[in-house]
Formats: sequence, structure tokens, C-alpha cells
Amino acid sequence: MNAVDKPFLRALGGEAVWPPPIWLMRQAGRYLPEYRATKERAGGFLELCLNPELSAEVTFQPLRRFALDAAILFTDLPMLPWAMGQGLRYGQGGADGVGPILEPVRDAAAMAALKPAEAARRAAPIMETVSRIRAGLERDHPGVALIGFAGAPWTVACYMIDGRGGHGFPVARRMAEEDPALLDRLFEGLLEASEAYLVAQAEAGAEALMLFDSWAGLLPPEGFERWVIEPTAALVRRLRARLGPDFPLIGFPRLGGDGIPAYAERVGVNAVGLDETLDPVEAAAMMPPGVALQGNLDSKVLVAGGEALEAATGRILSAMKGRPFVFNLGHGITPDTPIEHVSALVTQVKAAR
Ligand code: CP3
Repeated sequence: MNAVDKPFLRALGGEAVWPPPIWLMRQAGRYLPEYRATKERAGGFLELCLNPELSAEVTFQPLRRFALDAAILFTDLPMLPWAMGQGLRYGQGGADGVGPILEPVRDAAAMAALKPAEAARRAAPIMETVSRIRAGLERDHPGVALIGFAGAPWTVACYMIDGRGGHGFPVARRMAEEDPALLDRLFEGLLEASEAYLVAQAEAGAEALMLFDSWAGLLPPEGFERWVIEPTAALVRRLRARLGPDFPLIGFPRLGGDGIPAYAERVGVNAVGLDETLDPVEAAAMMPPGVALQGNLDSKVLVAGGEALEAATGRILSAMKGRPFVFNLGHGITPDTPIEHVSALVTQVKAAR
């Protein structure tokens, strides 16, 4: 299928496609028994991320169950620091799974030891995954678009500096306040590595790219400007110089609150992801009309299902009708999500009139 015929890509191009295209963050994952079986077969989560055949397989799994309009590359956000040479392993990350644990990078010497120029080459298995997914989509799911992704610089820096999530990244936040020059050095390498990593994904077959700034909401307003808006805008300029002015880009400044309209105006992305704390009616009113929106059903409502799910979905649909929009959650699907609730959601969105 011609790229312009994929509903997801048309929406990112500024068309008010209706019913809207839908995909779900973490659509491949632990709520699916076939995902858990494949991870076991791979021998662990990091092993899965470095196995192109099995990473492609888990990317396809949700597409076989649900009529989704996009697939997202199956890999993990800390794979970029890993490709820059930072030590990475997965440990128990809470009650329900594994979380990334990195060897913290906190001083100039540790930063100088990173190898941003080698990141795209070291990430070769991930690029192999991208090309396998794209080939499989063209063969079996011709209307489905492939999204590549990376963490945005601030969120990647949070994991690199603190080494793990779950505690609010106190060391990264303190560095942003007390030693911005040191954090700038890390961002310099991150911009170089992120550009190369994302361009390599596009060259391997990704048709859109998403920048996850999951921890954008931890910063005060000046910090949001300095560490979210400015570096993401710089990365977008670099990507546009390499991939052309129209390459579909999605930014997701999660929990960015009042800062999100400025992000949408100035970062230069085609679409902005909205988290579930934003009211869909207010969000639609405060965002520039040319920018597509993506979101923002509360993952907990998807777990609850039933009338609550139907009502919340209907509210988002009526708020977004008439503008370029991609239906999604406000954050990832959680492992306790019943599969039938996902089917019901997709059916309701596809029936929107
Ligand atoms: O379907 C998809 O969305 C595909 C792949 C994907 C994963 N992680 C797989 C994954 C994507 C796009 C990500 C992005 C990611 N990873 C982000 C940004 C989005 C967000 O969630 O805020 C972040 C911050 C990470 C880092 C990360 N990876 C954490 C904090 C955790 C542990 C918490 C959790 O949800 O398990 C992971 C592990 C992870 N990444 C899993 C998956 C499927 C679970 C691993 C397992 O199978 O146990």
C-alpha cells in the first residue's frame, strides 16, 4: 500500500481522518500471553530486545488480535545509552516486571567515555528488527504504519544519570539545577547519538518517529524550556535536515501540563502526544490547529472496561472530531489489562461517526 494511503500517516500529515486511526503505547507487552511466552523463549527481556526475529514477532502480536493502524518498533528506551556504551541490565522493577538498571553516568569522565558516534552501528540488531517488521507489515498488514522511536534527551538523561527509575530521578534533577554545564555535555552526545539512531531507523523502514519525554513533567517551567523544548527542537531540526521537512514526527512531553502548548508551537513536530491528566476538550482548544494530537485515554479506565471505558472513549472522540487526531492511551497499557477491553476499545473507535 502506498504510504499516503495509511490512515495513521494521513493523520500525521494534518488530515482529520475519521474514524481516527488508533494504536496503543505498549501494545506489545505483558498483558498478552504470547508476549510472555516469546520473552521466555528469548531468555529474558534484554535478550528479546537484541533478537531481531523475536522482537519483530512481538511487534506483530497485537496486530493479529486488534485492527490497529500503527505498529511501534519493539525495543526499549535504554537501548540507546547501551549503544553508546553504558552498562545496562534488567532487574526486578516492582511488583509486576523488570525495569532497566544502568551504570550511572554522573561526571565529566564518565560522559567522555561514552561513544555517541558508534551508537547507530552498535544498534545494528535493532535496525535489523526495523527492516524485518517493515517487510512483515507490507506482506501481512499493508495499511499499518511503522513507528520508530527514541527517548527525548531529558528522559534518556534521567535514566543515564540516576541509573534507574522509580525514585523521581533526584540526581538528574539536581544536576539540571546545580551544574547545567555538565548536563549540557551529556546532551551534546545524546543529540548526536539520537540523530544517528533515529535516522538509521528511518533508513531501515520506520515511517514515523516518536520522541518519548516520559519525565518532562518533573521540571519547573524554566527547566522545561531549557531541557525539554530547546533540545527537542534542536533534535527535530537535525532530523528534518536529514529526513526532509515532511517526515512524520511525534513528540510526547508527558505530564508537561501548561508547557505543552509552547512545546507544540515551537518544537516542530507534526503531532503531540497527550497524557491522561489533560482534559481532551481543553487540550483540543489550547493546541495550535495545524498540529495533530494523539491520546489520551487513561490506562486505568482500559483496565476497568465497561461503561466507564465507553464513556471516556466517547468523550475523547467527540472532543477531537474535526481535527487531525490519533487515538491512543495517555501512557502505556498495564499488564493487568483484560484483552477483551482492548478489543472493545478498538471496535468503538472504528465505529466513530
Ligand atoms: O509496544 C510498545 O510500546 C513497544 C515497545 C516499548 C517498550 N518500552 C517495551 C518494554 C517502548 C516504546 C518502550 C519505551 C519506554 N521504555 C519508555 C518511554 C515510554 C514510557 O513508558 O514512559 C520508558 C520510560 C522505558 C523504560 C522502561 N522499560 C521501564 C521504566 C520499564 C519497566 C516498567 C515496565 O513497564 O515494565 C521497561 C521495561 C519494558 N519496556 C517492558 C516492555 C514490554 C516490560 C518488560 C517485561 O517484559 O517485563
